[in-house]
Amino acid sequence: MKTIENLKWRYAVKKFNTEKVSTADLNEILEATNLSASSTGIQPYRVFVVENTSLRQKLGEGSFNAQIAESSHLLVFAAFDKLTQEHIDAFIAHLARERNLPEEALADYKAALVGGLLSRADEENFNWSARQAYIALGTALVAAAELKIDSTPMEGFDSEKFDSLLGLKEKGLKSVVTLALGYRDAVNDAYAAVKKVRLPIEEFATFVV
Ligand SMILES: Cc1cc2nc3c(=O)[nH]c(=O)nc-3n(C[C@H](O)[C@H](O)[C@H](O)COP(=O)(O)O)c2cc1C
Repeated sequence: MKTIENLKWRYAVKKFNTEKVSTADLNEILEATNLSASSTGIQPYRVFVVENTSLRQKLGEGSFNAQIAESSHLLVFAAFDKLTQEHIDAFIAHLARERNLPEEALADYKAALVGGLLSRADEENFNWSARQAYIALGTALVAAAELKIDSTPMEGFDSEKFDSLLGLKEKGLKSVVTLALGYRDAVNDAYAAVKKVRLPIEEFATFVV
């Protein structure tokens, strides 16, 4: 499977070169990311693409991750800080439109979402939304590898600062994880040559009989 070769090729890059990711490749990564599964399908997070170098320098100040500023593009995954009736209404209306259904046909599903999601504390829904965003992070990382584009998933950033510089609070979003995209500087990145270490598959996965 080509995906396995590509996953062996990828690693969390520490040092990028100055080559830029093309718009066509970036759009493919975003399209793949948007195709990620999410619980109930509601996609309770958004992705922000930051290319502007001076903005990325500001975002990266004080972080140990030079990749925030030095990569080609930075994807910021931001989850909704709470889920509301409006989110559910918009989701159901979109589903009905796309599947050419009357909204009434989705009434039971909508009631289940309202009952399930709106009965929970905002913080629980935020944490749930963040977990959905991490699934998308994984998709983006695999999609990038398929295009032989390097990446670094990163939690090492100041989310308060990201939220304020990117105007996320106003949108009801909080940054949860980021993905730097670009091309490795194989000469200056010591990690480019080190062996990838993973558990033996027998320890990682158990066949239950
Ligand atoms: C959610 C998440 C957060 C991470 N945060 C960082 C980070 O802030 N900085 C960094 O250099 N690498 C970060 N990494 C990369 C991991 O350290 C790396 O994936 C792991 O050591 C395995 O190595 P590999 O991806 O190169 O195979 C993160 C990875 C994940 C999945």
